[in-house]
Amino acid sequence: MNTTGLVAAFIVIVSGLIWVGTHSNDAEWTGNRNQCVDECYDDWKATNGGGIAEVEQAKQVALAAATPAALGEKYYGQCIACHGGRGEGGIGPQLAGQATADIVAKLTAYRAGEERGAQSAMMYPVAKPMADQDINNIAAYVSNL
Ligand code: HEC
Repeated sequence: MNTTGLVAAFIVIVSGLIWVGTHSNDAEWTGNRNQCVDECYDDWKATNGGGIAEVEQAKQVALAAATPAALGEKYYGQCIACHGGRGEGGIGPQLAGQATADIVAKLTAYRAGEERGAQSAMMYPVAKPMADQDINNIAAYVSNL
């Protein structure tokens, strides 16, 4: 390629870049459909309840609050009087340190009305209304006490 060719190529490339640079902020320009700045981004924030960072953070918080253990912790409020705030036991046996699967098996047995220990009757009304999901959540929480 001779010098004229190089200069011509250079001019074409540079003007192309300038064109893209000046037009990419143009709302009418369809070359970059993902661009959402200024008003567009303000609208997006209004619709989504915050900027990208806030929305992402809110998602993480919601996700953490909905983990099985977090849901189990809420349910465990009904158990504290008999099993202790830290699962240390009291009227009922110690739950802390028990494996998830054991807790699930024991609660499922009480829910089915099976007799385990001498005081199983105290657990029947507790276990009866529990859904499988409640049992799994409780077990996830209790096994980490
Ligand atoms: C009114 C007191 C009381 C409440 C409330 C109570 N428990 Fe119990 N729990 C007991 C007693 C007593 C036992 C022992 C029953 C037996 O003899 O089989 C027991 C046993 C258990 C066991 C079996 C423990 C083991 O190692 O054998 C689990 C698991 C359990 N409870 C979980 C729970 C959960 C979860 C809750 C709350 C949703 C709860 N309990 C609420 C009194 C209670």
